[in-house]
Amino acid sequence: MKHAKYALLLSFSLAFLFLCCSNETYKEGKLLYMHHCSSCHGEQMQGLGLLYPALNNPAFLKKPKDQLPCFIRTGSSTVDSSAIKDKSLVMPTMPSFEHLDAIEINNILNYINANHWHQEIFHLPNTMKLLESCPTSQK
Ligand code: HEC
Repeated sequence: MKHAKYALLLSFSLAFLFLCCSNETYKEGKLLYMHHCSSCHGEQMQGLGLLYPALNNPAFLKKPKDQLPCFIRTGSSTVDSSAIKDKSLVMPTMPSFEHLDAIEINNILNYINANHWHQEIFHLPNTMKLLESCPTSQK
């Protein structure tokens, strides 16, 4: 009987912890994502057809994780359009987000990761280091 009480208490505490905190962890990342990224990549990160890649499946990603901080900061102005015959089509590019600092970029990546990629978290010191030496050719 005593044990049952403790078990009940424990499950309530766990439920409380889960409900109270799990969604809050990447709150800033979520706000930033919704503000800066969702218009193209979608609120559920489902992308938009052939125009904007989905970010909700790590298997879809073309770029390795380590290149993502710089990619978000500098964007892509050069898209490989060699396979496209109709050059009048406007090729979508990823805009640059130079005003986002390392913390913000890190928070956005962790928000996406926590929801869809479920891989090792992005560590801020590493993201800062990567952002200090972004290849200029990506611009
Ligand atoms: C104007 C539309 C637009 C906005 C806004 C935008 N993106 Fe993109 N994003 C793109 C396009 C287009 C590509 C594909 C570019 C390429 O492959 O060169 C892309 C590619 C990416 C990729 C690489 C996917 C891969 O396959 O490796 C990531 C990650 C990404 N975007 C994250 C973000 C984040 C985070 C934000 C917000 C800070 C954002 N994007 C805002 C259009 C956009």
